[in-house]
Amino acid sequence: MNFNTDIFTIFDKKWALLTAGDEEKFNTMTISWGGLGTLWGKPVATVYVRTSRYTHDFVDANEYFTVSFYPENYRNVLNVLGTMSGRNMDKMNESGLTAQKAGESMTFKEAEITLVCRKLYMQGLDVSKMPEDVAGKLYAGQAPHDMYIGEVVEIIQK
Ligand SMILES: Cc1cc2nc3c(=O)[nH]c(=O)nc-3n(C[C@H](O)[C@H](O)[C@H](O)COP(=O)(O)O)c2cc1C
Repeated sequence: MNFNTDIFTIFDKKWALLTAGDEEKFNTMTISWGGLGTLWGKPVATVYVRTSRYTHDFVDANEYFTVSFYPENYRNVLNVLGTMSGRNMDKMNESGLTAQKAGESMTFKEAEITLVCRKLYMQGLDVSKMPEDVAGKLYAGQAPHDMYIGEVVEIIQK
């Protein structure tokens, strides 16, 4: 497995899709917070998902999730998938992306890179331990984030 990237910009500037579920039922949403690194001697990807997201239900219910990155011309699609909820719209039919299996989870044919992750750990972020400005700005009256750390078991590159 080999994946070279600028870790400080790939999530923040490029964004990604976080997807969980199987061919029968899955959901995806745009993320721009995340990390890549090492935990317990394993390559890992970390994502942060507000408990209010429909995708949260899928990440919780499944052992695997994927994090996938797209060419710049998919920016609008990522914007829609990061604004609308799968609870209220048929994201897959309206996004124009082509779903495909990735290991034990799902990704999209249009992805440049997909990280297939097996959940290793999850923990809710504790608002009381955050800097005050962050808590006030990002969490007042809003659902907290759960942190999911997944072992990267496969990297699918075009
Ligand atoms: C650029 C961008 C980045 C986002 N990053 C995150 C994130 O890291 N974590 C999160 O919980 N929501 C994030 N969101 C919001 C979700 O993508 C959005 O609420 C989405 O509609 C949830 O869809 P769902 O309800 O189908 O899961 C982001 C949205 C955008 C546009």
